[in-house]
Amino acid sequence: MQAKYDTILVLDFGGQYCHLIGRRIRENGVYSEIVPNDISPEEIAVLNEKFNVKGLIFSGGPSSVYEPNAPKLHPRILEVNLPILGLCYGHQLLAQLTGSKVEPAACKEYGIAQVAIDKPVGVLEGLSEKEQVWMSHGDTVFTPPPGFEALAHTENCPVAAFRHKTKPIYGLQWHPEVIHTENGMRMLQNFIFQVCKCQANWQMEDLIPKMVKELQAETGGSRTIIGLSGGIDSSVATAIAAKALGDKLTAVFVDHGLMREGEPEQIRETFQKYPINFIVANAQERFLQKLKGVTEPEAKRKVIGEEFIRVFEEIANKSGAEYLIQGTIYPDRIESGFRKGSDKIKSHHNVAGLPEKIKFKKILEPLRDLYKDEVRKVARMLDLPKEIVNRQPFPGPGLAVRIIGDLTEEKVKIAKRADKIVREEIEKNDFAENLWQYFAVLTDTKATGVKGDARAYGYVVAVRAMESREAMTATFAKIPYPVLEKISTRITNEIPQVTRVVYDVTHKPPATIEWE
Ligand code: XMP
Repeated sequence: MQAKYDTILVLDFGGQYCHLIGRRIRENGVYSEIVPNDISPEEIAVLNEKFNVKGLIFSGGPSSVYEPNAPKLHPRILEVNLPILGLCYGHQLLAQLTGSKVEPAACKEYGIAQVAIDKPVGVLEGLSEKEQVWMSHGDTVFTPPPGFEALAHTENCPVAAFRHKTKPIYGLQWHPEVIHTENGMRMLQNFIFQVCKCQANWQMEDLIPKMVKELQAETGGSRTIIGLSGGIDSSVATAIAAKALGDKLTAVFVDHGLMREGEPEQIRETFQKYPINFIVANAQERFLQKLKGVTEPEAKRKVIGEEFIRVFEEIANKSGAEYLIQGTIYPDRIESGFRKGSDKIKSHHNVAGLPEKIKFKKILEPLRDLYKDEVRKVARMLDLPKEIVNRQPFPGPGLAVRIIGDLTEEKVKIAKRADKIVREEIEKNDFAENLWQYFAVLTDTKATGVKGDARAYGYVVAVRAMESREAMTATFAKIPYPVLEKISTRITNEIPQVTRVVYDVTHKPPATIEWE
């Protein structure tokens, strides 16, 4: 293992894509850490003892630089004398810090835009005269700061990219980290390899011993429990925690009765074979009880988040466990609005759904900075079985967020049957492998139908199938009509309470993947 990695620090201004920047850098074999937006030169010097800090990237963010509480740079940040790349909001802050004016654009740009590259140098080296980029901004830099020159423009944005005339400091109004910026990776590579002169001396494998060491240090050898849902995240976290803590670790599978059909049995069978302490907590009744009459999605998520913790606490009381480990990954945290300056989209049960008072000394999250596909890579390195590595993601709150409105035993049964049919029909096809998730949603809408010559009035089931790389954005899958037809026919034939099936054709954004 390399003692000190060449490292890029990403200053976090709350943008939804901030961590994507970090992972794009890691994909190039260069280590990156996400750090607070107002990190000082002295704090960077301390980090430099651990890493070989070679450059800074200022991320995007949802604020306008003129808002009173807008996140700011440390006023002496330029004293670090390191290469800098400002992106979107980071580009505007850089312009403001170096003496240029940022103003509201006459025409705001959101989505794909064409940019004219006027000078293909430095970060823009090797690019064509016209490039497709992803923009998302309301404010604009109209003139380069003193000592800087403009490198690119769009129709509405005269300084879409700039650089310092003598120092390695760059700003881009667009997001190179988003796949819709066609040559975004090339731009980031230009920055990390040409401008910062990084060596690609980091690899994913290095993460495993790092996580093991961290867990050992954080728990100090105390008894610890881990929430194991059988999904890839908690399974990977369990494998790492087992390496770190051995028999001090107990894995707890909470059967809340809202899993997919056949799943609790499968999870039991898989994990009972492993040399770990494994407990199944039968909590179906208590979850259903707590959820009775709860219809608002965020309230449901909070009830579930709290109930999970109470079950874990009861088990910890008996076993003397002091710490709780969760398989939380990065998108769970970002959507729960955990950072200063970022917006809450929904409370993931294991993040913003947690109760305020918890009896554990601390909750530990070894996978907190990883995306799902990175977790899959780690799973393969750990030799986890294929059925776990390839399992489609399933939310901790389970079918509760796929049954709209009130939860009843009958609705849970309907949702399970519909979901099973969707899975069976989709998994008969090769394209299933390319889907991120596919499932049924039991809506709270009822519709008239005709079954066996008689009027029927029943539920509307929505089918959802999504393609995605990391769940931050997703597109609905273009499932062939015959497959949809088979799903629809089976659901209405086999589930008497359902009269209608619809297919959800909304991307994320503006929708989210789950309905609640
Ligand atoms: P959304 O619905 O936010 O989902 O687009 C993004 C991904 O996260 C999963 N998801 C959750 N996973 N606890 C989890 O463990 C949760 O509370 C939760 N909510 C959503 C969702 O299935 C999708 O893969």
